[in-house]
Amino acid sequence: MERRDEPPSLNAYESMLARRTAHTYRDAPLDRRSIERALHAANHAPCHRLTFPWRFIRVGPRGRAATADLAVQIKAERRPLSADEAKRVHDKTMAPPELVVACQVRNMDPFTSREDYAACSCAIQNFFVSLASEGILGKWSTGAITRDARLYGLLGLDPAAFEVIGFLWAGMADPPPDIARPPMESVVRAIP
Ligand SMILES: Cc1cc2nc3c(=O)[nH]c(=O)nc-3n(C[C@H](O)[C@H](O)[C@H](O)COP(=O)(O)O)c2cc1C
Repeated sequence: MERRDEPPSLNAYESMLARRTAHTYRDAPLDRRSIERALHAANHAPCHRLTFPWRFIRVGPRGRAATADLAVQIKAERRPLSADEAKRVHDKTMAPPELVVACQVRNMDPFTSREDYAACSCAIQNFFVSLASEGILGKWSTGAITRDARLYGLLGLDPAAFEVIGFLWAGMADPPPDIARPPMESVVRAIP
C-alpha cells in the first residue's frame, strides 16, 4: 500500500453508502489525483491465486471523441438518427468529466474466468468507493459499445486477450434519488 497522498474525507462505511450511480455530471474537471487514488484502490482488490486480471484504460480527449463518434455510429446502425438525436448521443458520451475503460484479462478456464470477473468487480467497486470518499460519483455502464469490435480497435486492445467489462464514468454530480433496498431480513439469515 505505497500511496495515500490525501486522506479521504469519508470513512469506508460512509463511502460505501455515499457511492451512487450518477447519470448527469457537472461540467467540472476532476483533480487527476482523485482518479489516480481510485485506480490505486482498484489495484488493491482481492483476487484468487493472485491473477490480477483487471486492466484500466484512461480515455483522453481524442479517445473520448472517437468513442462518442462510435456511440453515434452504433445507434445509427439500428435505426436512422436525426441530427438532433445524433448530437444527443454524442453529447451524452462527451459529458462526464472522466472515462476509464475496465478490462479483464481473458482466461480459457471457465472457473478462473468467473473468479477473475469477481475480482475485477471488486476492483471496480474499490474504484467507485474511493471516489465516493472524496465526494465524486460515477457509473459503471455496459452496452452494445462495450462489446463492439471497433471499440477494441479504438483502444488498441486485442479482443483475444482482453474483454471490456465496463465503462467507468466519473465526475461531480448530485446524488440520485434513494433506491429502496431489499429489507435486511430478506437478504440475511442466520443459523445457530
Ligand atoms: C455490471 C454492471 C453494469 C451496469 N451497467 C449499467 C448501464 O449500462 N447503465 C446504467 O445506467 N447503469 C448501469 N449500472 C449501474 C446500475 O444500474 C446501478 O448500480 C443500480 O441502478 C443501482 O444504483 P446505485 O448504483 O446508485 O446503487 C451497472 C451496474 C453494474 C454492477
